[in-house]
Amino acid sequence: MHPKVGIIGAGNMSKAIVAGMITSNKFDPNLIKVSNRSFHKLEKVRESYRVRISTDNRKVAEFADVIILAVKPKHITGIIEEIQDIIEEKNTLVISIAAGITISYLCNHFNSPVKIIRTMPNTPAIVQEAMTAISYNHNVNEDDLNIVQEIFHSFGRTEIIPEELMDVVTAVSGSSPAIVYMFIEALADGAVLKGLPRDVAYRMVSQSILGAAKLVRDSEIHPGQLKDNVTSSGGTAIEALYTLEKKGFRGIVMESIEKCTEKSDTISKRYNK
Ligand SMILES: NC(=O)c1ccc[n+]([C@@H]2O[C@H](COP(=O)([O-])OP(=O)(O)OC[C@H]3O[C@@H](n4cnc5c(N)ncnc54)[C@H](OP(=O)(O)O)[C@@H]3O)[C@@H](O)[C@H]2O)c1
Repeated sequence: MHPKVGIIGAGNMSKAIVAGMITSNKFDPNLIKVSNRSFHKLEKVRESYRVRISTDNRKVAEFADVIILAVKPKHITGIIEEIQDIIEEKNTLVISIAAGITISYLCNHFNSPVKIIRTMPNTPAIVQEAMTAISYNHNVNEDDLNIVQEIFHSFGRTEIIPEELMDVVTAVSGSSPAIVYMFIEALADGAVLKGLPRDVAYRMVSQSILGAAKLVRDSEIHPGQLKDNVTSSGGTAIEALYTLEKKGFRGIVMESIEKCTEKSDTISKRYNK
């Protein structure tokens, strides 16, 4: 039997999660209820996905067996104060997607032990290709974890990780889509520079990246080997690679992940002090 899922917040990430859950056909829209501060976003979510809606967070908490906190980190404390008594009484499973908010921070805002899951999903949830990292506290049991996996598997893949790795995960899966979009734009710009129409360039580049990523994921062949396979001696690909290596491409990308991880750590410390 599917649990009733409540989602507080109807912003970008919430919409991605709802879209993923509904289009996967694994969740009944009647068993999902979303709340948000402003009504217009809720109306759009209801129109698109036929889920239940309310502007009252407490109504969503009363409805839900599992509640997903999908608001900005600065709003988490206020929401917990608002629904705390209901969560404690119902022993609701609480899932946070807020970047930088730790499990202990969440636990400390409740008066009694609560089941807490901390996740870091990403927006490709919209096309059911999210990557979600999951950490949890000792109150969570195997059945709870199965429920969480069922929700997050409906729109992508998951990895259970120790919480101390959440900052690097925030960089490598939460934020990396931004890096990839920039890379797609740059590849397409290069193609446009050499005469390819822009719309054709975006279609070709995005499909090539999708295909390359699938090959890495599904073949389990080392990316270096796949690179070697398309790099013939004196050929075209090696010219592109040589240019990137000369300009420090790998180092820049590694540094971007390092900086992103550090920023996540800084934000996390600010919220959790
Ligand atoms: N975007 C990403 O790629 C991504 C990836 C991983 C994790 N996250 C995490 O996901 C969370 C949400 O991010 P987002 O990008 O979806 O933000 P967002 O688009 O700003 O959505 C947040 C939503 O929360 C609503 N809200 C604020 N206070 C509320 C309250 N007291 N009661 C009910 N609803 C309230 C806002 O409503 P109004 O607009 O009406 O104020 C807004 O619709 C963040 O904690 C973020 O760290 C995001």
